[in-house]
Amino acid sequence: MRYSKINPQLFIENRKTFCKKLKPNSLAIFHSNDEMPKKGDQFFKFRQNPNFFYMSGIAQEKSVLVLFPDSPLPEYKEVLFLLKTNELIAIWEGHKFSKDEATEISGIKTVKWLDEMDMIMNQLMSYADSVYQNRYEYPKYSSDVESREKRLNRELKQKFPNHSYLRSAPLVYEQRLIKSPIEIELIRQACEITNKAFRRTLRFVKPGVKEYEIQAETDHEFTINRANGHAYEPIIASGENSCVLHYVENDKECVDGDLILFDFGAEYAEYAADMSRTIPVNGKFTYRQKAVYEAVLRTLNELTRQMTVGTTIAELDKTSKKLIEKELIGLGLFSEEEVKNQDSEKPLYQKYFMHGVNHHLGLDVHDVGDRLQPFKEGMVLTCEPGIYISEERIGIRLENDILITNEGPVNLMADIPIEADTIELLMYVNIEK
Ligand code: GLY
Ligand code: MN
Ligand code: MN
Repeated sequence: MRYSKINPQLFIENRKTFCKKLKPNSLAIFHSNDEMPKKGDQFFKFRQNPNFFYMSGIAQEKSVLVLFPDSPLPEYKEVLFLLKTNELIAIWEGHKFSKDEATEISGIKTVKWLDEMDMIMNQLMSYADSVYQNRYEYPKYSSDVESREKRLNRELKQKFPNHSYLRSAPLVYEQRLIKSPIEIELIRQACEITNKAFRRTLRFVKPGVKEYEIQAETDHEFTINRANGHAYEPIIASGENSCVLHYVENDKECVDGDLILFDFGAEYAEYAADMSRTIPVNGKFTYRQKAVYEAVLRTLNELTRQMTVGTTIAELDKTSKKLIEKELIGLGLFSEEEVKNQDSEKPLYQKYFMHGVNHHLGLDVHDVGDRLQPFKEGMVLTCEPGIYISEERIGIRLENDILITNEGPVNLMADIPIEADTIELLMYVNIEK
């Protein structure tokens, strides 16, 4: 484990809140993710199932959590099953959690090896009436790959067909929407590491550097600061690629006079940061680039100001379209007159601004949460307007991570340079060398 130990109170409280919502005499089961095969005898880097992590803090494969608050056997109100390590695993893969270590991380007193699970589950299922099963219920997600939880959930149902089965995801998602102080601190750390990486790129970038060389600078800074790595595929998009929303090739040379759009964020202790910044390759924005930059920054500031308790993503989406439309008129891309006569099905702004401006952030970069849910204290969302004028090779997105509080929005990326003058100043030192 690269990160500092997380206060186990986080997971203890998460389980307590969840268990209060269960129907009487029901049991909930959470599975870790599979290790995904890469090639030969290798796997892709392991990523834990977020709901499993949220309930346990255990970022290890082949783990199962069973919660049974009404269990007549008190030692099985919470039980964590882990892979029993052996000499072979120790030699080839290294350390796996001992029972004591797992207890220390999760606060779960009963830890058993997986080979005891069948027997214990037979017993627990004989006492339980219903079973809550977890599933990844992200509306935009679909995959041909069957997850470990889907497979094992099906096997459980086959073995115990007469129990009633319920969904745990809505209950967990409701909890995950509101970040606890411990989680907010972890997201802050992810943001701080992202800040360090961005400042490093400002010292590094000059005409002629390759996008992947810039990415390597971020990789380095993330790793030495104990991040797990990037929370998502980083975008280092110079020139015309700054207008390609999900550009991840990062293989071009950065050309004098162009912009580079960065969208990267560290993952620290399974929690994500998500940042976008746009900088000039040669350290100085042109007059036109700066005009567009200021338009995006004004929009970001105004949208952030409106990220108050009670607002929704859907409302901010509407606002962002109005704000950007006005900015695009100011930039001379179309006129007020043309807007009045536009086809309402195909508004003119869509050519230059084609994405949403907020999503929830947490264990997932696109974390749980719905467009229509009013903001509440403790939610963390991104704010990310952009303007993309491909015929001018100008793509600018600015993205911060914002904590909603009763006193107003708190920018968790307030320390990450964003004013055009500050960016130029920080780059000046390097470029002049
Ligand atoms: N980096 C992904 C996003 O901004 O939504
Ligand atoms: Mn984002
Ligand atoms: Mn982003």
